[in-house]
Amino acid sequence: MKIASIVGARPNFVKLGPIHKSLKGSGNDHLIFHTGQHYDYEMSDIFFTEFTLPKPDVHLGVGSGSSCFQIGEIVKRLESKLVEKQIDLVLVYGDTNSTLAGAICANKCNIKLGHIEAGLRSYDVSMPEENNRILTDHLSDYLYAPTINAMKNLKKEGIRGKIYHTGDLSVEIISKTSSICKKSKILDILNLKSKSYFLLTMHRAENTNSKYLFVQLLETFEALKDSIIVFPIHPRTKKMFESFGLLNRLLECSNVKTLLPVGYIDFIALLQNSLKIVTDSGGIQKEAYLLKVPCITMRKNTEWIETLKGQWNVLTGVDSKKIVKAIKGTSSSSKYSKSAFGNGKTSHIISKLLSNLAMN
Ligand code: UD1
Ligand code: UDP
Repeated sequence: MKIASIVGARPNFVKLGPIHKSLKGSGNDHLIFHTGQHYDYEMSDIFFTEFTLPKPDVHLGVGSGSSCFQIGEIVKRLESKLVEKQIDLVLVYGDTNSTLAGAICANKCNIKLGHIEAGLRSYDVSMPEENNRILTDHLSDYLYAPTINAMKNLKKEGIRGKIYHTGDLSVEIISKTSSICKKSKILDILNLKSKSYFLLTMHRAENTNSKYLFVQLLETFEALKDSIIVFPIHPRTKKMFESFGLLNRLLECSNVKTLLPVGYIDFIALLQNSLKIVTDSGGIQKEAYLLKVPCITMRKNTEWIETLKGQWNVLTGVDSKKIVKAIKGTSSSSKYSKSAFGNGKTSHIISKLLSNLAMN
């Protein structure tokens, strides 16, 4: 069977790593189609190097733009490539615009579609990711749900495709990376000691479109002037600091170490050695949980509800007072479910399910 993975954004590449390896190992013909949604070296190519992924078989080169532009261009450019390469099944990952565009195109080309990380719901339809997930799930023939809650969400919605509980890819990715990342030099480069700093990321549209929330973030930094905060800045966020005229105020926060986005190995090294992580990312909430690093999520809701148990993850929104309180507070660590995200064999399970399809 000829399988094409459609990827385009940072979290897609992270999930692609173990799937590509498992599919290759199982003798499936696996092609990588890069939409070009992310294109900076540190948002794209670095992950191909770190996960020893081959150069994409197809690069659509779509780049940045509005959601309509991105989704429209990907669908338009992908169609002929799927047909030309005689693809039998398309795999999409997570909830990005590249995910939804890949799903629409597979559906319109009458090609079977599998969705990795299906069934997650934040129940907040103001987030583009929530709509991307729902639409992709409803277009999918095979839905690979990472958690029991995701399975339940899909069943509630009367999904037409076949649903499988596979566990989450992050378990195997983290377990491999957390040993590799001992080789990371990032702490030395930044002159940091383990467990002496907080790590922070922010890039979601609902947070970065608001000047008020950027001021809240700066007030957080200013209120924590005795704490070191490491802040790898997503290009969207950097652009918005500039356009709100707040970049200088950020640079004046001498307790904040700003850096370009880092590769996966350095990021996991930074996360593992941090006191706490403050983020609005989806994937990082789960990675923090797996590494037992307390997480403060600058959102009002989360699709990874398992992480909320035992206060491993607390929701604060981008509210300076709430973030500072959560940073200074103690974290409960009693309730922890080692198996909430599966047993670390997700890529193998998915690849076996795909091989079984090929035989039928
Ligand atoms: C996308 C996903 C989001 C995911 C995030 C991961 C959607 C709707 N959103 O958001 O769910 O959490 O990726 O990082 O798909 N830019 C660059 N260089 C790049 C990529 C982006 O400068 O390599 C800048 C551009 O100004 C662009 C902006 O970042 O307009 C936003 O990029 P985009 O891909 O639209 O969305 P993300 O915010 O990255
Ligand atoms: N990540 C990374 N470098 C960074 C920030 C994040 O490698 O500077 C990784 C992170 O560990 C996670 C993935 O990128 O696996 C998540 O991406 P992001 O937060 O951009 O997207 P989301 O998960 O919110 O969709």
